[in-house]
Amino acid sequence: MASTILKTNFNNSMQFIEGWYWALPSKKLKLGKVKPVTLLGRNLAIYRGFSGEVKAVDAYCPHMGAHLAEGKVEGNDIRCFFHNWKYDESGNCVEIPSLEKPLPVYIKTWETAEKYGMIWVWVGEEKANVLPFVPELEQVECNYMLGTKFIKNCHPNVLLINAIDAHHFNTVHNLPLEIIFDSQSLNNNAITFSNTTRGGNDSWFIRLVRPLYKEQVTYSMCYWYGSTGTVTLGPDFLHFYIIFSLRMIEGGKTEGQTILVTPKRQGILGCLINPILLWLTQRVGNYFAKGDTQVFETIEFNFQNPTKADQSILQFIHHVNQQKSLNWGTWEAVDDINNKNVKPQLKKNLLAYKQHEFNI
Ligand code: FES
Ligand SMILES: [Fe+2]
Repeated sequence: MASTILKTNFNNSMQFIEGWYWALPSKKLKLGKVKPVTLLGRNLAIYRGFSGEVKAVDAYCPHMGAHLAEGKVEGNDIRCFFHNWKYDESGNCVEIPSLEKPLPVYIKTWETAEKYGMIWVWVGEEKANVLPFVPELEQVECNYMLGTKFIKNCHPNVLLINAIDAHHFNTVHNLPLEIIFDSQSLNNNAITFSNTTRGGNDSWFIRLVRPLYKEQVTYSMCYWYGSTGTVTLGPDFLHFYIIFSLRMIEGGKTEGQTILVTPKRQGILGCLINPILLWLTQRVGNYFAKGDTQVFETIEFNFQNPTKADQSILQFIHHVNQQKSLNWGTWEAVDDINNKNVKPQLKKNLLAYKQHEFNI
């Protein structure tokens, strides 16, 4: 049996979780324009039709393989530059200039969404699930701002566990807090880790900020599709929200974008305060990112000796390994124990492998 079949999802550069992935900022795609985007090893042409809706299609024209991002948007259709074949918004070929009737060919289309100032693509075989959101803002109207775009020399999964690496808050970020996470599944594709402590009692810092919060210091991270994390942080009267939206690039590295979020506030005061709060949110995000940057340039992730403080990380790894995964580039489903077409012997081997993993 090929060893790749046995590889689990976590920190795997050959496969990724079926889900929503950010493609490009909304403002970078004007009405009637088309852009080339490489997403998880697959080349796409993403265009905005004149209705304003965004369409994502496989990049290469079924005639001779020209990249459709060289083409032209017509209405909500796209026309290939090379020999002018035209495809409608469902991907069907509707016009071939040299023929009276078009051929029955089509380009594959992918579901898109626009939120948080971003264009997202559903990368998957199944019907699209919900877009990532901050749990406590699910029903709240918000203002958004794109923060920092970055590249890191490690896998998105490895970068994301930083947010629930309880011990490193003391060692790297010098926070004199005891952090203990409680985890909860939000849905099949999302898991939340929330801090349950009120911090330590013995430091001046805690004594200073203690009057600002009644219960625990709110700090929670909700992971979506193993690739996007939404952070909620702050005392009772003011929560900061940051979305860390990551995607894997060649070689199992990370390309990420932070999205800063704050609830809409009414009136002139809201207009004045919200930009300041988004700016502050950016500073909070940068503070956390700064301490670890060097580690993620040089780390060779190899989690050989987990301790009790690493419990949440193990839970996250388990969650990621349970998710449906697709192959890098082809976006075809990876053989999985739950897949009906998997042969009994392979199923047995996968099961044995999973059991071994849980025993670690
Ligand atoms: S390659 Fe697109 S029309 Fe010929
Ligand atoms: Fe950190």
